[in-house]
Amino acid sequence: MVEGLLQVARLESGTQQMAREDVAPSRLVESAVTALDVQARDAGVRFDVAGAAELPSVRGDPDKLAQLFLNVLDNAVKHSPRGATVHVRGERDDGAVVVRVRDAGSGLPEGAQARLFQRFYRGENALRNGAGLGLAIAQAIAQAHGGSITAANVDGGGAEFAVRLPLAT
Ligand SMILES: Nc1ncnc2c1ncn2[C@@H]1O[C@H](COP(=O)(O)OP(=O)(O)O)[C@@H](O)[C@H]1O
Ligand SMILES: [Mg+2]
Repeated sequence: MVEGLLQVARLESGTQQMAREDVAPSRLVESAVTALDVQARDAGVRFDVAGAAELPSVRGDPDKLAQLFLNVLDNAVKHSPRGATVHVRGERDDGAVVVRVRDAGSGLPEGAQARLFQRFYRGENALRNGAGLGLAIAQAIAQAHGGSITAANVDGGGAEFAVRLPLAT
């Protein structure tokens, strides 16, 4: 947890060492899906990934960006009911790529949107022993790459997180 907090601080202060490589977004999604394979299987949750393979590269630190997706996909799995599918959709938007991660879980806690990405925030729907740092780290990584993450509830239930990263130019 201390390591996570230090990481947020380093990212926000710009003192974090960051590689600058061209990275294919599909590689980032694949690494997160692979890392969560056992956890997803145990939870009876599957991933449906589309549109990522066609996306152009972004520029940045592949390990940090992989962690960003891992944190968001980890939450999606944790909050999904057994038998559900987590949909990951890649799309291009202006000078950016957007990867949407949609689950069929409980949705975001009431009024949580503004606090989700704060350090230590854990909603009343928080599960198991998280520290409330996953989204703070993910947001700090996105912002360190000139990007962002937003969250919204989906009509009919569940949450959708949209990760936006500028294209490598
Ligand atoms: N996919 C999701 N569906 C519903 N709520 C979510 C989802 N992802 C995150 N949250 C909410 O945001 C809070 C913060 O998430 P996070 O920073 O990853 O911390 P943690 O996973 O340790 O609780 C969670 O405790 C939960 O309330
Ligand atoms: Mg989490």
